[in-house]
Amino acid sequence: MKGIILAGGAGTRLYPLTIVTSKQLLPVYDKPMIYYPLSTLMLAEIREVLIISTPEDTPRIKQLLGDGSQFGMELSYAVQEKPEGLAQAFTIGRDFIGDDACAMVLGDNIFYGNGLNHKLLDATSDAENGKATIFGYYVEDPERFGIMEFEKESGDAHGVRVLSVEEKPKNPKSNYAIVGLYFYPKGVSDMADNVKPSARGELEITTLNDMYLQEGRLNAQLLGRGYTWMDAGTFDSLQRATDFVSMIEQYQGMSISAPEEIAYHFGWISDDQLRESAARYGKSPYGERLMAVLEGKVVL
Ligand code: TTP
Repeated sequence: MKGIILAGGAGTRLYPLTIVTSKQLLPVYDKPMIYYPLSTLMLAEIREVLIISTPEDTPRIKQLLGDGSQFGMELSYAVQEKPEGLAQAFTIGRDFIGDDACAMVLGDNIFYGNGLNHKLLDATSDAENGKATIFGYYVEDPERFGIMEFEKESGDAHGVRVLSVEEKPKNPKSNYAIVGLYFYPKGVSDMADNVKPSARGELEITTLNDMYLQEGRLNAQLLGRGYTWMDAGTFDSLQRATDFVSMIEQYQGMSISAPEEIAYHFGWISDDQLRESAARYGKSPYGERLMAVLEGKVVL
């Protein structure tokens, strides 16, 4: 199983913050935004990740995350020349994906909740068995999102049965947004080749999801009340994400989405590597929390 973080885009809704900086490098409380989607892929136990960003931002992200060995991972990088749509990730990533199943997460999406690891592992195993998975999250303003309609009574361990997917519908058939995290079986690059640009000129992920739906190969999991999902692409949502992370981290004293901590719990890095990472973060609360993990104070 491979993973892609799509971390390009123009970030115009955050101007002037994003004129000379990538949205994905902006802080969400105590760490750069991209730590969150990276942690999400790690929770799916994916260790080979391709990060796709703009020509200007890719080198900066690489400077921050390097080859991933400090997380016990293999990170590689590719450039998206123009933000031509989410489905393009799979044609840009063709060589990286090879003959594997692949998950993708958007660089500005933040996920949190107990049991996420198990849900993601279900999606991984479904992808390895030829089925795609999307995730639905209740929203009050469904016109702004890709929306999934599903059979309410159809829920089981593998999720709900999807009836339709629609991009930013004028008359939404449900209040469940399709969040920026997708799992696809092998062959996704060939499927993405057949996605035609939409009226707004983008290679839409919703079109790709619809192709899997038409083939009877699309699962959906709901992220219910136990989960938080945020995209941090506007001033309000960025502020809310920062408030949320600071509240949980200060109240519980545990980190949300610290890649080194996840790597350590999964046994991907040694005590020495964690100590080295903690030292790199200096006297910051982030570094201090990593030390607490090393001292065995935080179990999970
Ligand atoms: P958006 O929020 O839709 O777009 P954006 O980041 O360019 O921001 P704005 O609307 O303010 O101009 O993108 C969602 C995420 O997907 C974000 O992390 C950027 C990423 N993205 C790409 O990397 N390439 C693309 O072609 C698109 C459409 C998005």
